[in-house]
Amino acid sequence: MVATTTTTGEGWSSRTAFILAAVGAAVGLGNIWRFPTLAGESGGGAFVIVYIACVFLLGLPLVLAEIFIGKVGQSDAVGSIRRVAAKSNASSSWSLFGLVGVMAAFPILSFYSVVAGWVLYYSGVLGADFFQAIMSGDPFRGALAGESREAIQGRMGNLFADPGLLLTMHFLFMGATLFIVARGVHAGIEKAATYLMPAFFVLLIGLVIYGMIEGDVAQAMAFLFTPDFSKLTPQVINTALGQALFSLSLGVAGLITYGSYIKESSGLGATSAMIAIADTGVALLAGLMIFPIVFAVGLDPAAGPTLVFQTLPFAFQTMPGGALIGFLFFVLILVAAVTSSISLLEVPTAWGIGERGWSRPKSALIFGGAAFLVGILCLLGYNVWSDVRPLGFWPLFADTDILDTIDGFTGKVMLPLVAMLTSIFVGWKADRTLLATETGLSPAVLKIWRFLIAWVCPLAVGAILVTGLFPSLLD
Ligand code: PHE
Repeated sequence: MVATTTTTGEGWSSRTAFILAAVGAAVGLGNIWRFPTLAGESGGGAFVIVYIACVFLLGLPLVLAEIFIGKVGQSDAVGSIRRVAAKSNASSSWSLFGLVGVMAAFPILSFYSVVAGWVLYYSGVLGADFFQAIMSGDPFRGALAGESREAIQGRMGNLFADPGLLLTMHFLFMGATLFIVARGVHAGIEKAATYLMPAFFVLLIGLVIYGMIEGDVAQAMAFLFTPDFSKLTPQVINTALGQALFSLSLGVAGLITYGSYIKESSGLGATSAMIAIADTGVALLAGLMIFPIVFAVGLDPAAGPTLVFQTLPFAFQTMPGGALIGFLFFVLILVAAVTSSISLLEVPTAWGIGERGWSRPKSALIFGGAAFLVGILCLLGYNVWSDVRPLGFWPLFADTDILDTIDGFTGKVMLPLVAMLTSIFVGWKADRTLLATETGLSPAVLKIWRFLIAWVCPLAVGAILVTGLFPSLLD
């Protein structure tokens, strides 16, 4: 059977549209909030080097593997794997790993929307502040003028203590995501990516240049790129791989789903490389945007998850034009988050359409609505349910709140599991002629890819999965 149309009958209007949407999916909170935080906590350069190795040795082959499955399958994640399996005379039970991917996308969307809600809140606060700056005739003043450092940093605690405010932000963000996905691949996802991604890159470059002019670039470069290999613990490697998978949107069948809307197979290898390079480039640029500012003001690069929400707003107060820059900075993160959350919602939505026969709006509403409800549990974990430890019986998650438990369980268990199974399936089960014809790789590159996907990915990701689950093995 030759599949010519997707189950949903939808498709990208061009290769550029696919690349923008896929880069939009990859570039998100993971790049701008998580990557600098992890690099800061894990000692900078050593982490960055391991991260880059993970992206290109493990991530990139997996990106191509997922896009390959989607392109050949032309269906939702489960249906696509089933078709590739049928064309390769492999068991249709392989499609189960697609189901695990779909099941991972959904909880990730729940907490992603909550965190994006914080970004929305800060965009609002700094937007209002910038507006006031204009009205007061001093548009280039620093952010949140007149507020003490304690007051600025206290804003995050106040936000977390206020379930109603968290809920409102989460609702608005999920609503926007749902609206875009319900409109469909062409009129929703593709359109959002074609407007938002160019805007994103303009903002990013602008803010990096600002950091170069006003910040301490030398110290930031030294911090990000001087490797101190004594800091390379197994945990750091583990974290780096988990982050690489998350940042490239791997292990949730996201690229299978987006790949299924590709019509003509030309240059899937080059496309995959562009996605990996763009995603990594943005993560590094985000570091080069944030750390010069952090160092210029003499703040702590290892502040952890509060780096973006507490450290930077204070830094923006003392920087020239900080009111404007601070506002643009949070708008930038918000844009990145939306183009990622739509891909997270698209995965289960496509599944509902393809496997359950639901209409797109119905499927999007069911999964978006359910993810909204699960997100409420996450945000209550910051206030009313702050002592709830959902997986408290498991030493790994003994002291982890609701949001971090969902984040940790999906990131440490589900994503590596799906990534490992994807590589085994493509490396060992998929028909070899299909691999060659559908990816369009040259023979030499094909050989390298097959080696990486059949041997390096399953072993490395498997090892990291096991050590991630049983960290005591590393002691
Ligand atoms: N890659 C996104 C980010 O870095 C997160 C994401 C994960 C999006 C999985 C889609 C699927 O923020």
